[in-house]
Amino acid sequence: MNKAWWKEAVVYQIYPRSFKDSNGDGIGDLQGIISKLDYLNKLGIDVIWLCPVYQSPNDDNGYDISDYYQIMDEFGTMDDFDQLLAEAHKRGLKVMMNLVVNHTSDEHAWFIASRSSTDNDKRDYYIWKKPKPDGSPPNNWGAAFGGSAWEYDEQTGEYYLHLFSKKQPDLNWENPRVRQDIYEMMKWWLDKGVDGFRMDVINLISKDQNFPDGVVPEGHEYGDGSPFYMNGPRIHEFLQEMNREVLSKYDIITVGEMPGVDTEQARLYTAEHRRELQMVFHFEHVSLGDGQYGKWSPGEWKLTDLKRIFSKWQTELDQEGWNSLYWSNHDQPRAVSRFGNDSEEYREVSAKMLATCLHMLKGTPYIYQGEEIGMTNVRFEQIDDYRDIETLNAYRDLVQGGKLSHEAMMKAIHERSRDNARTPMQWNDQKHAGFTTGTPWIAVNPNYKSINVEQALNDPNSIFYYYQKLIQLRKTYDVIVYGQYRLIMEEDEQIYAYLRQLGNQTLLVITNFSEEQPVFRLPDNVTYSSKQLLISNYNVDEQDEIRQTKLRPYEARVYLLTT
Ligand code: NOJ
Repeated sequence: MNKAWWKEAVVYQIYPRSFKDSNGDGIGDLQGIISKLDYLNKLGIDVIWLCPVYQSPNDDNGYDISDYYQIMDEFGTMDDFDQLLAEAHKRGLKVMMNLVVNHTSDEHAWFIASRSSTDNDKRDYYIWKKPKPDGSPPNNWGAAFGGSAWEYDEQTGEYYLHLFSKKQPDLNWENPRVRQDIYEMMKWWLDKGVDGFRMDVINLISKDQNFPDGVVPEGHEYGDGSPFYMNGPRIHEFLQEMNREVLSKYDIITVGEMPGVDTEQARLYTAEHRRELQMVFHFEHVSLGDGQYGKWSPGEWKLTDLKRIFSKWQTELDQEGWNSLYWSNHDQPRAVSRFGNDSEEYREVSAKMLATCLHMLKGTPYIYQGEEIGMTNVRFEQIDDYRDIETLNAYRDLVQGGKLSHEAMMKAIHERSRDNARTPMQWNDQKHAGFTTGTPWIAVNPNYKSINVEQALNDPNSIFYYYQKLIQLRKTYDVIVYGQYRLIMEEDEQIYAYLRQLGNQTLLVITNFSEEQPVFRLPDNVTYSSKQLLISNYNVDEQDEIRQTKLRPYEARVYLLTT
């Protein structure tokens, strides 16, 4: 396994809209981020992943880009961006941009030209198709944000494809000019000095050119087109071309967001000799418990399912490829609410347990803003308090469409809406949590009085300092980065325990996912001559016997065993 800086790094994700507002307009901005770089430095992270900051009409909060070369007015100017980059670099922090090139905004100049006439030279920058003889869309695919994936355009009498909202038309990657324009743009940012890209739904860019109908799942109106555009026919060719023309020329970090990717595909995307990407984000663990309407009908899940998923990824990407590790991001609920226990009693201890479990795995860990202080899901009572296009459209389709009751949908929203992660960062216990002096674009979680950065920094026992310590450990022990993974106590439904092995060092990671007190047992075939406790979320007697030991609720411990 080759060593690399991005394998040893910890990434911190910023959702700029909700991070820190500097000018009182209620929307986070670049100057706000600059003012918090020292805070990130204190945490010890290496890379900032900046969610999209480009010009955008904000149909999907910046994931609908109207100009790749401009900064969104609400976030500041290109000078602010240059300052952010310089200030980050001064502190040894790298900046990973969000690349969104499966689609643009419908307000992008390319699309405006493309839709203007069938013979415009940008026409085939997007995917246009004639209606069926009866006037209906070219196929039955549904869009991720509801409705058909095809929008009829009066002007030229054809449909364009949009896998997300109708304001996010899909680019036509079959067109070599599109690809060249994208590579130029990527180089422009890299030449400016940015340190990499998180690539939005990048495994959707190659579509099956026959555009066949998809199967309509029970209770749904539209066909599932994903077999025809996820990991599509030319995807590896396109990524290898991008690597050849752009990525290989810079020492950068790359991660592809990939719904519907399995480990076999992930190896193809990330094996170094294939020259595509470094890591992918898969969705298997965050989809646990999904029901008939996906996350909007959430059900129970078992710890053994989570362990099976993580273990499969750990094992199958052990020799080739590399893992990214995350519990949460701007599209997911808060980690402690989803996978831990956000009650007053167990929030802190379970947040630390989750951090331990994830950060000791093999791969590059990602921390989503607020996770380091244990921010939780929010429970707005009114649907009108939500801002996210996905949530609002799903409410409309499922509740007004008679599929789910208002109560069931609100319960699902409280559990799984993307807005759980998008409420403003909680800096202190002052008005609007110190996020803004104005009116925030989305309301602050009322628990900011007790859960906030200031409080965390003043408490030596806080989740913040626990994350800081996990990050320091990663910098100290190679076994945390490169050690080989082995699951133990496979069938246990409360304890997730595993080993990481490198040379004569073995890391023993013990995490209790329950509020009970199960007994941990070290398998007989694990032997060692000395042990050292590296971190724990309760006070632990260093001499404590580990062959067999009773754990406390959500307890986590990491030992370094030497043979
Ligand atoms: C994935 C992004 O993370 C999400 O926020 C966005 O809505 C979709 N891709 C579409 O760009």
